[in-house]
Amino acid sequence: MEVKIGLLGCGTVGSGVIELVQKRQDMISRLTGLQPKITHVLVRDPQKPRQVSFIDEQLTTNADDILEDSEIRMVIETIGGIEPARSYILRALQAGKHVITANKDLIAEHGTEILETAEHAGVDVYYEAAVGGAIPLIRPLKESLTANEITDLKGIINGTTNYILSKMTETGADFADVLKEAQELGYAESNPASDVDGLDAGRKLAILASIAFHAKVTLDDVEVTGIRTITAADVAYAHELGAVIKLVAEGTDRDGNLTLQVRPTLVVKDHPLAHVSDAFNALYVRGDAAGDLMFFGRGAGSLPTASAIVGDMIEVLRNLRMDTALRVRQLLLPHKRVRRGQG
Ligand code: NAP
Ligand code: HSE
Repeated sequence: MEVKIGLLGCGTVGSGVIELVQKRQDMISRLTGLQPKITHVLVRDPQKPRQVSFIDEQLTTNADDILEDSEIRMVIETIGGIEPARSYILRALQAGKHVITANKDLIAEHGTEILETAEHAGVDVYYEAAVGGAIPLIRPLKESLTANEITDLKGIINGTTNYILSKMTETGADFADVLKEAQELGYAESNPASDVDGLDAGRKLAILASIAFHAKVTLDDVEVTGIRTITAADVAYAHELGAVIKLVAEGTDRDGNLTLQVRPTLVVKDHPLAHVSDAFNALYVRGDAAGDLMFFGRGAGSLPTASAIVGDMIEVLRNLRMDTALRVRQLLLPHKRVRRGQG
């Protein structure tokens, strides 16, 4: 059975999603018994050259082509920012469509509204790609580690600033030149101030802390300092001290008291975080039962981010398949109970 999907946005991430779905079509059908088909792709400018070749996907500038098409059962949002992404997602959920998003700004600021709307509508929302690119973080924290009391989160969760600081360390280059490279590689947000001022990492930490510490955390709860003022001289001085500068995000829960910070930090060279280079991300998690865990991988970029989104998509397909199987079973189950006679 074919499952029609609408894709909102076809930039760095959206084009990666199309490429990966095209490439893994057969495998996804084998795994889920369903055939995903991206039928419509929403963009602003249909004339713009794209990083992907379209097969069946049709470009549109009208969101209604997706949101009002009752045959589309899943919407993948890769537009970014708050509006119109928020309104589109809410409309999709209210129309009974499952939603997958890579949008951390939106989840960090309006996560509760989105999750509650999904619950009312009885549909799924997944957002694994919103934190850590390809690295599975949301689902492990939500599912595999739920038996733990998590006390510490610490790591590098912004690829752009890590790329910039790594290149400044390796080459002695200036901040501005390296930022341009990170933008060209597709790591930076459309407004890179969000990356360099630490807000992107702050929002990601808010999302992770909300899940790990069972709290409602927003960006306002995170003390944020960015890397804009870090100079080549600071980087050289850190080197003399046997350290590197990294933008470290840290959250702790001490008996219900949360401390949340994102700030440039001196990391000694033999610490594992010192070796997280380029756009890679890493996150330490400490749980009372599990002990210390470290997650590491590509935190940004087209296919790494698409990997997380298409993973979520496969999960939605599995749920759809299970719903259908359950419905079929319920239809087949006898719905009248045999009552023993009263004598
Ligand atoms: P991007 O390259 O700027 O792509 C955005 C896409 O959305 C473009 O195709 C754009 O259309 C479309 N779009 C923007 N505003 C629109 C509007 N009002 N109506 C219709 N279409 C609109 O952004 P991106 O890097 O792919 O990031 C997308 C999302 O993924 C963001 O939430 C970002 O935070 C998140 N994310 C990104 C990465 C990464 O490595 N880049 C990693 C993880 C998560 P046009 O192409 O026609 O302009
Ligand atoms: N701009 C983000 C980063 C993209 O650099 O980490 C991935 O979330």
